[in-house]
Amino acid sequence: MMEKIAIFGIGKMGLPLACAFAEKGFDVTGIDVNTELVKRVNAAQDVLPQEPGVHALLKAHAGKNLRATTATDVSDREVVIILVPTLIHENAGLVEPDLTAVLDVAKLIGKTLTPGTIVITECTMPPGATEKIGQAIEKAISTSPKKTNTKKSDAKPFGLAHCPERTSSGTALRDIRGQYPKIIGASDAKTLETVSRIYEKINAKSVVRMPSVKAAECVKVFEGVYRDVNIALANELAKYCESIGVDAVETFAAANTQPYCHLHSPSCGVGGHCIPYYPYFVMAGSTSTPVLRAARATNDAMPAYTIDRLAPKKGDRVAVFGLTFRGGVKEFRKSPGLEILGILKERGAEVFAHDPLCSNDEIRALGATPIRLDQTDGLDGIIVCANHAAFKTLDWAAMVKKMRHPNVVDGVHVVPADAVRKAGGTYAGIGRL
Ligand SMILES: NC(=O)c1ccc[n+]([C@@H]2O[C@H](COP(=O)([O-])OP(=O)(O)OC[C@H]3O[C@@H](n4cnc5c(N)ncnc54)[C@H](O)[C@@H]3O)[C@@H](O)[C@H]2O)c1
Repeated sequence: MMEKIAIFGIGKMGLPLACAFAEKGFDVTGIDVNTELVKRVNAAQDVLPQEPGVHALLKAHAGKNLRATTATDVSDREVVIILVPTLIHENAGLVEPDLTAVLDVAKLIGKTLTPGTIVITECTMPPGATEKIGQAIEKAISTSPKKTNTKKSDAKPFGLAHCPERTSSGTALRDIRGQYPKIIGASDAKTLETVSRIYEKINAKSVVRMPSVKAAECVKVFEGVYRDVNIALANELAKYCESIGVDAVETFAAANTQPYCHLHSPSCGVGGHCIPYYPYFVMAGSTSTPVLRAARATNDAMPAYTIDRLAPKKGDRVAVFGLTFRGGVKEFRKSPGLEILGILKERGAEVFAHDPLCSNDEIRALGATPIRLDQTDGLDGIIVCANHAAFKTLDWAAMVKKMRHPNVVDGVHVVPADAVRKAGGTYAGIGRL
């Protein structure tokens, strides 16, 4: 049984994973470039208040079998997990995966890796990328000045595996502990068995052994691609429903009572750093992905489409409710609310915003004037862009009555259309009547 684990990247996903391993008695070192985060983790501070259970585990294990550090020596570790961001970047009009952080970590690992160690990528990887990370580690080993970490004769000085993180912000610990089985793909049978045994310790739903590292990479990427394409389909059908006077949400719910139909929710856009990015992990390696490309284009067009439902004029005072990419999660990457804010400004609107997870200073920094939810006096429109719990219990009648022009656009299906209309306002929702 391997017991000494290092995790590169103790962010939103890496820290809950480190806690889950520590809980089961593993000796865990969390390695991160963020010195402030390292200090706070070692002091058992509540660094991820949005993740239930993490702080309790941190208090129980920090300074004992869970330590954070900026030092990158992994020579005493038996398993090294990489869980740093994998993003995309634009290069001469082409959108490509950006694996810079993972490659940086690979070079560091190669400097001190001990023969027999297993290296696992947990961050989402384009199919084939983990093998390249393995090659980068091998190169770093061969050029390491110390050369204490391998022998020339070692054909494979380390085991390589991909075990994708299958979690969502807000439920990380629950998901890691066994909401879904862990997917494991490894470079050889022995590594596959060892890694499977490790994850079986923390995951109550056990593991799915895949035939290759690449197949494991595909599982995670395809989960995201499926959702992006499905949401695009939902958005396209929602627009069609609007054009023929049918309520899409009711219609999808009825269609989904048939077990082969799984239509997702139409909305004002797809945000976060997973679903809108993973299609590019496939597209970048293939010339034949018209469905994925069309889905991306459809979903990327939803923020502008949502604003068109309001049709604001230059100088209109418009409030955006919800700037995070989804309700209850303080994450702004590719947030539809932020994009809508930007487009409104380009179109000459005066923009206001409220988000229960943001301070007034943060809202100012994001480019809008902060307002309270009941401060709707003089507004010409409200666009709701995130399904925060606070938005589900609002007194819409009172809010609408105070507006100069009482127009409400519901991008995420949290506004009661009847209440808005009864108070004399207009209501438009994505796919709603
Ligand atoms: N957040 C999610 O909901 C989610 C869900 C599933 C999968 N993932 C995947 O997990 C991975 C990590 O996501 P996250 O949400 O934890 O990101 P995050 O930004 O919260 O955390 C990443 C951490 O890595 C650290 N880091 C960056 N470069 C480093 C380096 N060279 N060495 C050491 N540490 C470094 C950062 O300081 C940060 O603390 C990504 O690939 C993401 O796609 C995320």
